Amino acid sequence: MTGEESAESAAGAEAAVPLVRSLRLTLEAPRTGPMQATLALASASLDWLDAHRGGFLHADEEALLTDRLHARRRHGLLIGRYAAKCALAAFRPDLDPRDLAIRPGVLEQPILSGTGVENLGISLSHAGPVAVAVTFPEACPMGIDLERIQPANVALLTRQTLAAERRHIAARLDAPEAERLTRLWCLKEALSKTLRCGLTVPLEHLAVGSVVAEPPGLDVTFANFAQYRGLSLAAGDLAAALVLPRPPAAALAVEAAAWEELRSGLAEAAMRWQAEDAAPPPRDGDHEETGHR
Ligand SMILES: CC(C)(COP(=O)(O)OP(=O)(O)OC[C@H]1O[C@@H](n2cnc3c(N)ncnc32)[C@H](O)[C@@H]1OP(=O)(O)O)[C@@H](O)C(=O)NCCC(=O)NCCS
Repeated sequence: MTGEESAESAAGAEAAVPLVRSLRLTLEAPRTGPMQATLALASASLDWLDAHRGGFLHADEEALLTDRLHARRRHGLLIGRYAAKCALAAFRPDLDPRDLAIRPGVLEQPILSGTGVENLGISLSHAGPVAVAVTFPEACPMGIDLERIQPANVALLTRQTLAAERRHIAARLDAPEAERLTRLWCLKEALSKTLRCGLTVPLEHLAVGSVVAEPPGLDVTFANFAQYRGLSLAAGDLAAALVLPRPPAAALAVEAAAWEELRSGLAEAAMRWQAEDAAPPPRDGDHEETGHR
């Protein structure tokens, strides 16, 4: 972020200040040597993003914001790009985010371009006012997902998971069913982004295999993609998952304190979203509603 547009310098009411957490990931890989990736979580209102987008959007990203976009899609596009630029700022603080573009590829996958980010990939996910993004060396593909945990989705998510997956996670995670199912869903979606196929393949191909509880999250393998692992975090009513290569291809040093910091950011983002949901609707003559609902 430019200094002017950074989260720290944002003026206005506290709720209007974006929430940002970033995390550096260090990987050991026998084939390439050590590698770095960065992950960011961000939450911001559509009003804030619109007011500050000049500080982080590339001109080609600005062009994606056509007038025909629904407010929810506009919010998703902006918060996703903002989280991605926060991850990139943690990776290369010397680069101006406005010089880096994330454009959709032919499979709608995000393609990063700009000087200084050659051979870097990006994955992002948004839910309402919240987004997560990870930037990684193309040598070490990753994918990320974020979902809101909603009890109303239990029946649907039950149909879209295998009994074996549900048993594995239930044996390791003492949490409401909606959380367990959403975490499974997030892990599969993050795998589908890593593979670039999205959810166009039969979901059982993306099935979760083993599940290990590693505070503050879950560490899983995939039944059909033995080369990948998935890390799952949840806090409040938000669940997030990161998928990346597993040993022996690449070993991630998971620092518990840093992940806990990310988990607490997720909890704060969930609380902010709930507070926004609970806020009374604007009266006539108040500022126009531009939120994500
Ligand atoms: C990828 C997918 C799982 C995203 O799920 P979602 O719940 O809608 O949304 P999320 O917020 O979690 O993720 C959205 C982001 O995923 C990324 N994405 C989209 N397609 C992707 C793909 N094939 N591979 C990796 N990432 C992808 C994008 O960055 C997108 O955000 P953006 O449009 O704001 O840039 C879903 O859109 C999907 O299955 N897409 C496949 C569709 C497809 O193959 N289309 C081909 C058209 S030719």
